[in-house]
Amino acid sequence: MCGIVGYTGGEACVPILLEGLEALAYRGYDSAGVAVFDGEKISLCKAQGQLSNLSVLLREQPLAGSCGIGHTRWATHGEPSYVNAHPHMDDAKQIALVHNGIIENYQNLKQMLIQKGCEFVSETDTEVVAQLIGSLYMGDCLSAVLAAMRLMEGSFALSILFYDEPRTIYCCCKDSPMVVGHSESASFVASDIPALLPYTRDVCFMEDKQIAVLRPDGVDYFNEFGLPIEKTLTHIDWDVEAAKKGNFEHFMMKEIFEEPVAFKKTLEQYVSVKELRLKTDIFPWSQEEAAALKKLSIVSCGTAYHAALLGKKFIERMAGLPVEVDIASEFRYGDAVLEPGDSLMVISQSGETADTIAALRMANGRGCRTVAICNVIGSTIAREAETVLFTYAGPEIAVAATKSYLTQLIVLYLTALDLAQKRGRMSAEAVASRILEMAAMPERMQRILDNRERIQYFASRAFSVKHVFFIGRGIDHALAMEAALKLKEISYIHSEAYAAGELKHGTIALIEEGSLVVALATQPELLKKMASNMEEVRVRGARVLAVTNGPADGVAANSHEQWELEPMEETLTPFCAILPMQLLAYYMAVQKGCSVDRPRNLAKSVTVE
Ligand code: G6P
Repeated sequence: MCGIVGYTGGEACVPILLEGLEALAYRGYDSAGVAVFDGEKISLCKAQGQLSNLSVLLREQPLAGSCGIGHTRWATHGEPSYVNAHPHMDDAKQIALVHNGIIENYQNLKQMLIQKGCEFVSETDTEVVAQLIGSLYMGDCLSAVLAAMRLMEGSFALSILFYDEPRTIYCCCKDSPMVVGHSESASFVASDIPALLPYTRDVCFMEDKQIAVLRPDGVDYFNEFGLPIEKTLTHIDWDVEAAKKGNFEHFMMKEIFEEPVAFKKTLEQYVSVKELRLKTDIFPWSQEEAAALKKLSIVSCGTAYHAALLGKKFIERMAGLPVEVDIASEFRYGDAVLEPGDSLMVISQSGETADTIAALRMANGRGCRTVAICNVIGSTIAREAETVLFTYAGPEIAVAATKSYLTQLIVLYLTALDLAQKRGRMSAEAVASRILEMAAMPERMQRILDNRERIQYFASRAFSVKHVFFIGRGIDHALAMEAALKLKEISYIHSEAYAAGELKHGTIALIEEGSLVVALATQPELLKKMASNMEEVRVRGARVLAVTNGPADGVAANSHEQWELEPMEETLTPFCAILPMQLLAYYMAVQKGCSVDRPRNLAKSVTVE
C-alpha cells in the first residue's frame, strides 16, 4: 500500500524515482507524484491513475535536480485525485513530503493548524503532516521532525525535503516499513527492497521513531530523542533480475514458474537432502519443549492465513498437536487466551502486514514464545519475532501470492515433521521417506508447468462462468480456500471454497445449470465421499472439474474433466495441487482481460488496518 522512494546523489533524480516507483507499483496505487529540489526551489509533479501518466507529464515538463522524493498513493483519506496525490507541501512551501500510513489524530491536528491560520487544499492526513512540520520548523529540520513525531498518532513512513537543506532527505517511520539504501555517492530510501536493487544491496531497515538524514555522501541516523545512533547495514542477496518480469507477460506467471526453484531452495535450508534428515536445530522447539507443547496458535492474513489452515492439518495429523488458526485482524481484537510460555506463530510474506504485526506484538507482550514464517529479512516481523523461519521465495511482486504460499507450506510441513519426530510420533525413517519424496517434488511441479496448455484450454472455455465453487475435504478443503481466493482476486469471478461435506447444509442451493465446481479429491480415504459430493452437484447441472492424486476410482463418472497429479503420499499433494489452481486463476484472468499483476482495489502489502 502506497510506495515511497527517495534519492539524493550526483545524477538526475527523476528517472531513478520513476524506476523506483515502477518497482513498487505492485503494492497498489491510484495516483503518483514526485517532488524535486533543483537547488533553488522544490517543484512538484503529480498525476492521477497509472504511473505512465506521471511519466508523460514529466517528459512534457521536465524537472531538473539530483535530490527528490516520489510516491504512489493508495487512497485512504480522500478520493484518488490530483489534489490528494502526494507529495504535499506546507503553506509557506518550505517543505514537501510523501507519506505512507494513517495519522489517526489528523482531524485534531488539522483543527489546531487551521486555528493557526493554515489553509488546506486536500482531504488527506498527509497534508496535515506537511503543515504540522512546517508550523514546527524554526530553522532546525531535525527538531521539527522530532516534534512532529511526538504529536502524531497512528502509522507513518515519511520522506521530507526542506527548502533550507538542499540535497538532503529526512526520513522517519512508525509501524510502516522503510528501508534506506547506501552507495558510494548516493543515498536512497524506499518502502521496499525491490526499488533499491538496481542501485544497491546494502540497506538499513528503519525502526520505529528513528530518523535518517540522507545526503549524497552518507546517512546519519538518530533516535527519537535526536541522539545519533549507529545502524548496521544488511546485505541483500536477491538477484536484481528476480524483481524484473523477464520474458514473461506477467509477474504472476513468472512467479508461478519460479516455484520449483523456490521449493528446492527452501527445502535445502531446513533439511539435509543427502542424509535425508531435518536440520532439527533450526526449528524453534527443543525435544523437551516439543514434547511439552499443549497447543500452537497460528495467526496471519490473506494467503498466509490459508497457508496456516494447511499448516494446522499437517501439524495435527503428523505431530498430534492441537493448532488454533486465526485471522490476524480478528485475533488482535478478539479474546485470545494467551498465557506466558504459550507458542504463537505468525506467517507473513512481507513481514509488514499491520494486523499480523499487532498480533505478534500482543503475544510478545504477554510473554509468549513467538515464531515467524517470513520472506523478508529485516522486515518488522522478522525483527520482532523470537525465532524466524525464513522462506526462500525471493521477491514476490504480483499482488496474488503464489510462490510465497508454496514456500510457507514447505516450512509448515517441515515444522510438522520436526515436531512429529521430537514428540515421538514419527520415526527418523518415516521422516526420511517424506524428505525423499519432497526432494522429487520440484521435477513433478515442473512437469505440471510444462503441461499447462490443458489448463489454458480449460480456462478459455470456462472464463465466462459467473460462480465457481471449490470443494474438498480435510487437506483439500484448506487448499480449496486458497484456490478460491486466487481466482476471485485476479479474475473477479465470484468463487467460494466449501468443505464438501457441508454442501448439503446450504450451499448446494446455489448450484444451477452451468455452475463450475472444482472438486479437489486428492485424499484416498475421502475419495468415496468426494465422489458422492461430485455426483450431487453434477446432477444439479454443475460442470465438475476433479483434481486427483493419480487415477481415482469413481471420479471419472462424476466429473466432466479430471486432472490427475502424479501419485504421491497424500499429505504432500498440496505442493503439486496448488499449481493447476494458480494457473487456472491466471488463465481465467488473462482470458477476461483483467490486470493480473495489479488487481483492482488490492494491495500487495497491507501496512495499515
Ligand atoms: C495482502 C496480499 C496477499 C497477502 C496478504 C498477507 O492481502 O494481497 O497476497 O497474502 O496481504 O500479506 P503478508 O505479507 O502478511 O503475507
